[in-house]
Amino acid sequence: MHLDDLDTPSLVLDMDRMERNIRRMADFTKECGVELRPHVKTHKSPDIAKIQLAAGSKGVCLQKVSEVEVFAANGIRDIFLTNEVVVPSKIERLARVAEKTHVGVAVDNLDVIKETGKAFREVGSEVDVYVDVDIGMHRCGVQPQEAAALAAQVSKEKNLVFKGLMGYEGNVNGKKTKKEQIAASKEATDGIVAAKKAIKKKGIAVDVVSVGSSVSTWINAKHEDVTEVQPGMYAFNDHVLVERGVAKWSDLALTLVATVMSKPAEDRAVVDAGSKSFNFDTGLFPKAFEVEGATMEHFSEEHGWLHLTGAAKKLKVGDRMRFVPAHVCTMVNQHEEMYGIRGDRVEKVFPILARGKVR
Ligand SMILES: Cc1ncc(COP(=O)(O)O)c(C=O)c1O
Repeated sequence: MHLDDLDTPSLVLDMDRMERNIRRMADFTKECGVELRPHVKTHKSPDIAKIQLAAGSKGVCLQKVSEVEVFAANGIRDIFLTNEVVVPSKIERLARVAEKTHVGVAVDNLDVIKETGKAFREVGSEVDVYVDVDIGMHRCGVQPQEAAALAAQVSKEKNLVFKGLMGYEGNVNGKKTKKEQIAASKEATDGIVAAKKAIKKKGIAVDVVSVGSSVSTWINAKHEDVTEVQPGMYAFNDHVLVERGVAKWSDLALTLVATVMSKPAEDRAVVDAGSKSFNFDTGLFPKAFEVEGATMEHFSEEHGWLHLTGAAKKLKVGDRMRFVPAHVCTMVNQHEEMYGIRGDRVEKVFPILARGKVR
């Protein structure tokens, strides 16, 4: 099938670019001597996770139990759920997955650790446990000095294996200059170092320190206390990551192809993709991938308004054009499949099997 034969709107995945992005991160982390455990909530596709594993990744990260269930059922054998699982019925589901798959989970609460210990004991499976530390994003996670009490509790629970620490410095993705990125990345590793010291004082070994966003990984993978990084978006990239200086325009692997469905004025065109195809969670709009002078400036559910200048004024009804998202993960979750291309040929369809798995 030719790229131009795809119905629109559709996600188009440039496989050469994706493979290059995956290889680049694998080479970089190898050079730094850290494990790479990509966050695969970005693409929600077990097939793509297998490409990352074949390139040397240790395992994968996911965010929800339902995602873990889908990936485990589709052949992924080592999964770290980098999020808090607090409801007993969900913990039990995770314990069931762990009967056949190597599973890890993040914790930031003493009662949840006890509940997790109980659920895994009852099911008879084991789980690697990582204390989640707030290293600057101020989302979940304990303060560094509180990590030791949690590590001690994990160590007491029979079916829980204390592995180490995890932190997600996603705040670094918001930093526009290299200087700000370096400062926020350092704040993150300072937090990890403090937590690690406090735990070691209790005589408990910290084997794994897992951190890293798609921006901070390029800095923190070099830190001596970091043993593993968990970036997600690097496999595809998006226009914000280009603006942050960690990817080039030529590294953008995922675009959405749409069709001009109306040309109501010389300087305005409307494409057949709006908020149900794109995502606007960052408040930033997608950018035209190849056409200069076409700027998306408004949308409704199935319509994207383009303001046209220069050569873009020549766009006409029926023309096709591709767009790059501001945040790739949330755009992927709107779709059922990605069409993998080489050049202009569609080579493979990647079903987004964990799409919509938010429970
Ligand atoms: C805990 C955790 N780890 C890793 C990632 C992946 O980082 P990025 O999206 O910057 O690639 C995320 C993304 O939200 C995350 O929440």
